Amino acid sequence: MKREHPVLKWSPPEIPPHPCRLEPVEVWGDGRGILILGDNLKVVRELKSIAGSADLIYMDPPFATGRNFGFRSGGNASKAYGDRWDGGISGYLDMLGPRLTAMAEVLRPNGSMFVHLDWHAVHYVKVFLDGILGYESFVNEIIWHYYNKFSRGRRALPRAHDTILWYAAGPNYTFNEVRAEREKPVRQLKRVMVDGKLVNARNDEGNLIYQEVTDRKVDDVWTLPQLQPASSQWTGYPTQKHQVLLETIVLMASNEGHLVMDPFCGSGTTLEAAHIHGRTWAGIDSSPAAIGVSRSRMARAGAGFTLYSCDGQKFPKLDTAVQVIVKTEGENVVLHLEGPAEKELAGWCAGTLSDGILKPVWWSFGAKRSALSTSSSPISGSDRLAVRLYGHHGETRTVPLET
Ligand SMILES: C[S@@+](CC[C@H](N)C(=O)[O-])C[C@H]1O[C@@H](n2cnc3c(N)ncnc32)[C@H](O)[C@@H]1O
Repeated sequence: MKREHPVLKWSPPEIPPHPCRLEPVEVWGDGRGILILGDNLKVVRELKSIAGSADLIYMDPPFATGRNFGFRSGGNASKAYGDRWDGGISGYLDMLGPRLTAMAEVLRPNGSMFVHLDWHAVHYVKVFLDGILGYESFVNEIIWHYYNKFSRGRRALPRAHDTILWYAAGPNYTFNEVRAEREKPVRQLKRVMVDGKLVNARNDEGNLIYQEVTDRKVDDVWTLPQLQPASSQWTGYPTQKHQVLLETIVLMASNEGHLVMDPFCGSGTTLEAAHIHGRTWAGIDSSPAAIGVSRSRMARAGAGFTLYSCDGQKFPKLDTAVQVIVKTEGENVVLHLEGPAEKELAGWCAGTLSDGILKPVWWSFGAKRSALSTSSSPISGSDRLAVRLYGHHGETRTVPLET
């Protein structure tokens, strides 16, 4: 029996025009990747004019948890982002609905959109997405099952999964089959396509053919742990997702050279997954702390990118006792930091400053902060040099250098 097609009497919300001024702030390496500090609703249409349409959009918005998320780094805590909405779930959908519509507009015809949520809002958002992209554009509901998250449900089953809704912009969307190793090989009947039907394969004598199979097609339930602070991937940013999850999505739904966008990029997990696998990428986040983490993550991954700010949104000013000491040794400018750099800084860079745009040529982030006081810079003989110091929560301070 043919299943009846449900008809939804609902239209996506009209989006008012949100003009936005995108100003480059930093250019790292070849500047190809795009990282933007700003509200994604304002940014996304403008982004299309500089980056083109997206082949893959992954969105991991706030989940409507009713919580504020803090970020602890460098011994201090700050607010990363809020997930409380006036009007409860309706207020949340008022925020998310126009953003889903705006993102769908920048998807290429071969593109896919993945929206990552949990039980709080996923069923409402499924209905929204059916209205925006079409019920027939739904591809899969991926269940990310994690087994290592503490759940205090005393009168309910422990909640142990997130849901990722996958929609395609058109019938020719990019799909690369995903396969996983089996724990033990299995003996299986060999199957072949005959006249469009899958049938058992037989040898010349008419006997069934068996084969040993060591892998399997990955289905729509993915078992993967939640990222833990002990992991080498951990950035400290709340709700950071597992890199394997994002690498799987990137490999499955895009090809090399494709543009991958993440309009709620947080710590930059999608951006790093895209970079590692040869895709171009664009990430947006309205939280300076998130963009600070993404910046250092992408710089450490060796990615070239341009950092923009939308409508002049600023990073908070870094209040620090750290001093930059400059010495000229022959052709080289040698830079030292004096003061509590290890405690107060997440990293720093030195580069050329022109028209308000910093091009870092030397930088240091992360655990090896001893390098901050000992390294010499390869910058030589150039004018308008500047050092930028980065705090742990997105703060920055720019120090022009006299050489
Ligand atoms: C669940 S987190 C994303 C985590 C990310 N997937 C990761 O692996 O780190 C959601 C992010 O959305 C950002 N956000 C919320 N509203 C936004 C908006 N209107 N525009 C841009 N970013 C927004 C928050 O600052 C937060 O970093």
